[in-house]
Amino acid sequence: MGKKIIGVLGSPLTEGNTAQLLEQALKGARDAGCETETISVSSLEFDACMEMMFCREHSTCIIDDDMQKIYPTFQEMDSLVLATPVMTMGIPGKLKSFMDRFQVFFMAKYLRKEPLVDKNLKKHRKGLFICISGMNIPDVFKGVKMSVHAFFDIIDCQYSDELLINDMDTIRDIRTRQDLLDSAYKKGYDLGKALSGR
Ligand SMILES: Cc1cc2nc3c(=O)[nH]c(=O)nc-3n(C[C@H](O)[C@H](O)[C@H](O)COP(=O)(O)O)c2cc1C
Repeated sequence: MGKKIIGVLGSPLTEGNTAQLLEQALKGARDAGCETETISVSSLEFDACMEMMFCREHSTCIIDDDMQKIYPTFQEMDSLVLATPVMTMGIPGKLKSFMDRFQVFFMAKYLRKEPLVDKNLKKHRKGLFICISGMNIPDVFKGVKMSVHAFFDIIDCQYSDELLINDMDTIRDIRTRQDLLDSAYKKGYDLGKALSGR
């Protein structure tokens, strides 16, 4: 069985520009011999973290919602591709809530020192970050990158590569930029190749 790469889509548009870049990256990973699965955050039903702190002592969250099926997937995956647009200079709200719910992994790793990710998996788990912004201004990716670095640390994925594309308000349709779609494919392929050893 091939190594498993999870793609997480932070845009609510499942056929939008972010989604197409993510699919190109995952296609590259499949061509390199990996299995892939896409999680569209907007299709999940879950609450924001309520700070009930159940996860201080338990390896899960007390809130019984769709995050319960996400946690095992994130424990077992071999790598992650996280793709999102910038919204209000940061991570879109629902994706940010999704990331916050990994407090379950944070508490296990940093407080109880009983990480939920097996140490053999941790050795090779990588994170590829794909992000697009409407504007072409300095520091447009600064906020999202800080959050994603923290998130990748929490879930034990090494921040290994990124594809940051600004000025989407001018580009409008990513299908007019085959070079950018090819970049996404190549980064996914390289990630998959590093895992599958081909
Ligand atoms: C609610 C909202 C907030 C946004 N905020 C920003 C922003 O702060 N900076 C920016 O550069 N682009 C911003 N954008 C533009 C998106 O990043 C851009 O349109 C992107 O291409 C959307 O990707 P998608 O079509 O794949 O969802 C915002 C878009 C929306 C809908």
